Amino acid sequence: MNIAVLGSGTIGQSWCALFLAAGYQVTAFDPKASRETEIREFVSNSEAPLRALGYSHAGSLTDFCFTTDAVKAVEGAQVVQESAPENLALKKQLYRLIEPVLDPKSLVLSSTSGLTLEMLQTSFSDPSRILIAHPFNPPHLIPLVEVLGNELTAPDHIRWTLSFYECLGKVPIELKKSIPGHVANRLQAVLWQEVLHLAKEGVASLSDIDKAIVNGPGLRWAICGPNQLFSLAAGAEGLEGFIDHLGPSFQDWWSEAGHVELDTDTRQFIKRNYLSVDENEQRAIKAYRDHLICKILNEKKLENSVLLGDHLDPPT
Ligand SMILES: NC(=O)c1ccc[n+]([C@@H]2O[C@H](COP(=O)([O-])OP(=O)(O)OC[C@H]3O[C@@H](n4cnc5c(N)ncnc54)[C@H](O)[C@@H]3O)[C@@H](O)[C@H]2O)c1
Repeated sequence: MNIAVLGSGTIGQSWCALFLAAGYQVTAFDPKASRETEIREFVSNSEAPLRALGYSHAGSLTDFCFTTDAVKAVEGAQVVQESAPENLALKKQLYRLIEPVLDPKSLVLSSTSGLTLEMLQTSFSDPSRILIAHPFNPPHLIPLVEVLGNELTAPDHIRWTLSFYECLGKVPIELKKSIPGHVANRLQAVLWQEVLHLAKEGVASLSDIDKAIVNGPGLRWAICGPNQLFSLAAGAEGLEGFIDHLGPSFQDWWSEAGHVELDTDTRQFIKRNYLSVDENEQRAIKAYRDHLICKILNEKKLENSVLLGDHLDPPT
C-alpha cells in the first residue's frame, strides 16, 4: 500500500519513520526541499528504537520518495496522512489541490490537534473521505491515535482506519463526537492549568510539581487509566465504593480548582520560576525520554496481541 505524508515537520517526519518501518511505500511532501534530508536523518535515527519495538523494516529508505509537489505525492496513494501546519486556510487549500487527483477509494487522515472535522470537511466535494487521526508526539513511538469520523463518514471508513492503526501497532481510540482538542490534549490542558495555579499560589515550585507527577500518578498512568486506578482503590466496591469513600474530597478539590490565563503575568511568572534548557540539553532529554518510552512499550508489548507486519488491504 502507498501512503502519502503531506507536511514533513515534527509530526510528518515521525509518521514517515513509522510507515516505512512497517513496510509501506511512502511519498512525503513538503514545500521546503530541505525536509527530505531531515526525514532521511530521522528515519536513520529512529531505526534502533523502532527495531527494538519489532518493526522489521526500521531504518529502510528503499520505499521512500520525497517531492515538493503535493499533487505528485498523492498520485497512487491509498492513504494520505496530512500533517500540514495547524492553519485551517492552508489545510483547505491543500485539500482542494489534491482532491481532483486522489484515488477514488483513498482516505485522507488528518493529524490536526485543534481543528474540527466539520471545518476540514467543507473543502472536500466528497467529505466522507476525510477523517481525523490525531497522534501523540512522537507518533512513531507513542501508541495513541484519536480517530474521528461523523455522520458524513462511511462507517466502513472509520472501521478501516481503526484497523489500519492497530495493524501498525498503535492503540487507536474512536471519538464519538467532535470537540476542539479531542480527548488527550484536553486532559493535559486541564492538568497544566492546575499545575500553573498551584505554582502561582506558592503551593510548590514548577519543577517540584513535575517531580510529583513523574514520581507519583504519572508512573501509574502508563499502566492504568484514572477510572481503573480509582476502582482498584476501593476493592470489591469498585468505582462506586471509591466515590463513597473519597467523592466528597474530590468534589471540594473540583470546586476549588484554579483558573489561569496565559497572559503576561503568567508568562513572567514562568520566566522567573522555570529554567529553560539549551538545545543540546533538550536533545539529551528527548533521547532519554524516547529510550524509556521504548523500554516501557517493550514490557507492555508482551500483553499486546497485535502482530506487527500485518498489512491491511487498502480501503474499499
Ligand atoms: N507538534 C505536535 O506535538 C503535534 C502533535 C499531534 C498533532 N499535531 C498536528 O500535526 C500537524 C503538523 O504539526 P507539526 O508540529 O508537525 O508542524 P510543523 O510546523 O513542525 O510542520 C509542518 C510542516 O508543513 C510544511 N508545510 C508548509 N506549508 C505546507 C502546505 N501548504 N502543505 C503541506 N505542508 C506544508 C512546513 O514546511 C513544515 O515542514 C498539525 O495539524 C498539528 O496540529 C502536532
